[in-house]
Amino acid sequence: MTALADILARNRAWAERMLAADPEYFRALARGQAPQFLWIGCSDSRVPPNQITDLAPGELFVHRNIANLVLPADASCQAVLRFALLELRVPHVIVCGHTGCGGIAAALEDLSDAHADPWLRHLVELRDRHAAELAAIAEPAERARRLVELNVLEQVRNVGESAAVREARAMGTPVSIHGWVYGIEDGLLRELACGANGATI
Ligand code: CO
Repeated sequence: MTALADILARNRAWAERMLAADPEYFRALARGQAPQFLWIGCSDSRVPPNQITDLAPGELFVHRNIANLVLPADASCQAVLRFALLELRVPHVIVCGHTGCGGIAAALEDLSDAHADPWLRHLVELRDRHAAELAAIAEPAERARRLVELNVLEQVRNVGESAAVREARAMGTPVSIHGWVYGIEDGLLRELACGANGATI
């Protein structure tokens, strides 16, 4: 485990390295942000968005929660969508799920906790809506992988139906929505076919 003092020391070393490479680096970032991508992903420590995409500070606007849900009643997620789309005018929204997702596993294992949990309950409902398809998959890991995909597609749809996307398009921002799945076991991102409007599948 990394001690807290180590983290602070690593931060100082990192800031020094960035300044050594470009003395204007932090001054430029301080002038403002103009990211082209909004990333909605899982909080899982193995899926750090900037690292796995090799994108620098300033390039990704990020929202993360357990199992990358986009719920209409989630004020935090909706505020991020609104700010990214209406203030920053970000043209691309990426919803990224991942293999080995604990939230997905909890919903599939039918733990009573998942039913009682106001957050995981949404995944249990999603699972129930796709019960027939999931039951037809014999291999548990494949079943989990499929629910990860179905969840991404559901959240892509939720983004597409959000007021923020409607308003951004009305303002003339061409918003496209992308569904991706990150493979914990190989470090690769895979695109799901969901159409520019996130309305298909
Ligand atoms: Co996860």
